[in-house]
Amino acid sequence: MTELTDKDRVFARPLSSVHAFAFDAEVARVFDDMISRSVPGYDLLVRMMALYADTFVTSASRVYDLGCSTGVMSRVIARQLSFNNVEIIAIDNSCSMIEKCRGQSTEPVLWQCADVLDVEISQASMVVLNLTLQFIDPDRRDELIRRIYQGLNPGGVLVLTEKVELTDARQQQTMTELYQGFKKIQGYSDLEISQKRSALENVLIPDTPERHIERFQQAGFEEVYQSFHCFTFQSFLARKS
Ligand SMILES: C[S@@+](CC[C@H](N)C(=O)[O-])C[C@H]1O[C@@H](n2cnc3c(N)ncnc32)[C@H](O)[C@@H]1O
Repeated sequence: MTELTDKDRVFARPLSSVHAFAFDAEVARVFDDMISRSVPGYDLLVRMMALYADTFVTSASRVYDLGCSTGVMSRVIARQLSFNNVEIIAIDNSCSMIEKCRGQSTEPVLWQCADVLDVEISQASMVVLNLTLQFIDPDRRDELIRRIYQGLNPGGVLVLTEKVELTDARQQQTMTELYQGFKKIQGYSDLEISQKRSALENVLIPDTPERHIERFQQAGFEEVYQSFHCFTFQSFLARKS
């Protein structure tokens, strides 16, 4: 029965008016099902995070998971690490999400309900922004990426995954159509897809891949890699020398 109660049905009923999307208690309750059915390759991204933890996290450093939601990435990082002197700090400004993390996690993670724009970042070997930057005020994004760069140790990485807006309008349209097809395969109805799209309008504001790369370079990142791409979802690894 747990599976039934945790299934994402947030947009399943016709709504007389669709409100702006919020990471509230209703969304937190079904979030694991929502993200795994809505983000193509999410399971792979989780497995890649274990590999990044193995590769980039160093002894006596910090890891930040900014916009951690239910804490999937932080928990996988914590389980992967062989050091016990790494501080994993997972932050979300939805206190419903953080309550859920605290309730279900046995891993040594510091869960904080806070705005990522207010958090001090220091001595980091890895910072994760998995599908979070797209929800941050576009005018504050440069500043956040700059602060992350400054808070990373030499050799440290920022892992960024985002829904992107492709520069070429035709490519954007084709990829969006394919993405909608993907959501249908994942069991979402046309009504759910269209109501959620309306709710996310002006809430999820995607940048182009070129804008992300330019922002990394302006912040000072010396190495930038595109590490994942499926439809309009892309991941980047940005490394500080
Ligand atoms: C799509 S979810 C992230 C998914 C999660 N990183 C994962 O990999 O499972 C976006 C999260 O960012 C959080 N968020 C958005 N803006 C934020 C902010 N300014 N400060 C902290 N968290 C924020 C939301 O509450 C939400 O939980």
